[in-house]
Amino acid sequence: MKIFLNKAIPQVGMKILNDSNNEIIIPAKENISDVEFLKYCKNADVILNVGGNKLDKEFFDNCPNLKAISLFSVGYNSVDIAEATKRKIPVGNTPDVLSRATSDIAFLLMQSVSRLASHNFQKVKDGNWGSFDPMENLGQELYGKTLGVFGLGRIGFEMAKKCKAAFDMEIIYHNRSRNEEVEKELGAKYVSFEELVKNSDVLSIHANFEAKDSNLFNAEIFAKMKPNLIFINTARGGFQNEKDLYKALKNGTIWGAGLDVTNPEPMEKSNSLLQLSNVCVLPHIGSATIEARNGMAKIAAENAVSFTKGEKMKTCVNP
Ligand code: DGY
Repeated sequence: MKIFLNKAIPQVGMKILNDSNNEIIIPAKENISDVEFLKYCKNADVILNVGGNKLDKEFFDNCPNLKAISLFSVGYNSVDIAEATKRKIPVGNTPDVLSRATSDIAFLLMQSVSRLASHNFQKVKDGNWGSFDPMENLGQELYGKTLGVFGLGRIGFEMAKKCKAAFDMEIIYHNRSRNEEVEKELGAKYVSFEELVKNSDVLSIHANFEAKDSNLFNAEIFAKMKPNLIFINTARGGFQNEKDLYKALKNGTIWGAGLDVTNPEPMEKSNSLLQLSNVCVLPHIGSATIEARNGMAKIAAENAVSFTKGEKMKTCVNP
């Protein structure tokens, strides 16, 4: 079969693909346009997709030959799963291997914002390290505070574990369903969305993004949060209304925000959020460790190759 990859992946995954009995197609140049992407996909049996290309109904209509999709990501919001399922196209993703790395970034952002680290680093770089002032550069401590996890799956669990171990934080969470194992292990408490918003000192998003969640965190919700709230998002930028977030941060409605994901990506250099001292933005690097990316490469390649051998993908998000 023909497997199309829009970008090369780490060697461990390339080897699995190249050792299989398939034709592996990779564009010669690094970044291809949407038109070129579609042209390649039209000729492929399987695509191994790196990045957030929209694979929606129109895309599927244009690729009648397509039989399977292997995503190089755990998130699958870029794919119309219902449409893929209707067409009997399995969609694989890469769970587990990036949970620690992504939760590390959520934890890092939380600490960075609580102590205004990136703002202060910028001050040093700009030559603005002034004299000691007892009232300046004041952060807030995290010990014993309440972490609210929105979406307590694998990544949310890793974040909660770290916050409990490092700062003895209370853990509350809101999910589609309760997770009694996590409640037992971390003493976590299941709460309604309203309670999560109202009672968290840090609110960290770890849910899978769906269209209905667009702008879920908006002015109305920020207004209900504590003034010391640290908002962390390492999931998908679509969860936050960035204009509302800017106002909430500027007006002191909430304390700060740490974002590894923005809407859109990449974030424009002129985005007003970047002017604020209580914000730290990273360029979607949650899974960017050698270990996590090797793990993702292995799973994504294995998923693609298993399909070509008539086997079920190991990690498939649709039945
Ligand atoms: C994921 O795996 O979903 C990461 O966000 C990278 O896209």
